[in-house]
Amino acid sequence: MTEPGVETATLYRQVGGREKVSAIVEAFYRRVEGDEHLRPIYPEDLEPGKEKLKLFFEEWLGGPRAYSSKYGHPRLRRRHFPFVIDEKASGRWLRHMREAWQEADVDRDIQAAVFESLGPLARQMVNADADVPREPLEDAFLQ
Ligand code: HEM
Repeated sequence: MTEPGVETATLYRQVGGREKVSAIVEAFYRRVEGDEHLRPIYPEDLEPGKEKLKLFFEEWLGGPRAYSSKYGHPRLRRRHFPFVIDEKASGRWLRHMREAWQEADVDRDIQAAVFESLGPLARQMVNADADVPREPLEDAFLQ
């Protein structure tokens, strides 16, 4: 293997690589589009966020590190401060994400491993009652 990142890309490869990650994120965003509670939290144009989420998941699963190279450390909770996320939004986000991984037909054991982390991560994103800065972070490299 000569591509950067591929040696350590176990989970990324097991999931099915770039194509599968793309299918998962597309399936997730289709659900967001139809969700009357979640949709208004997202910007009108869903495409840029969709592309970022694809890059993020590729990296998070051990694949190519394009997200960090482009945007710096994910700082996920901080990056979500401009969006008021309540318990209901977090729950729906997680449910849509679960269904998206099922629709993409990812191996059950891999899904279990992934959602062991994604569940707590989605709960950490709740910020509706927190007194946090709501202005967006710039897309600049943030280190
Ligand atoms: C819990 C409920 C969540 C809600 C309601 C939510 C909502 C959002 C919204 C509205 C955006 C902005 C999209 C855009 O700019 O077009 C966003 C960005 C993003 N979200 Fe979430 N999110 C949630 C949880 C998560 C979790 C658990 C993860 C990670 C596993 C995640 C990863 C990301 C990433 C990587 C971005 C792009 C950040 C950037 O570089 O600007 N989100 N999210």
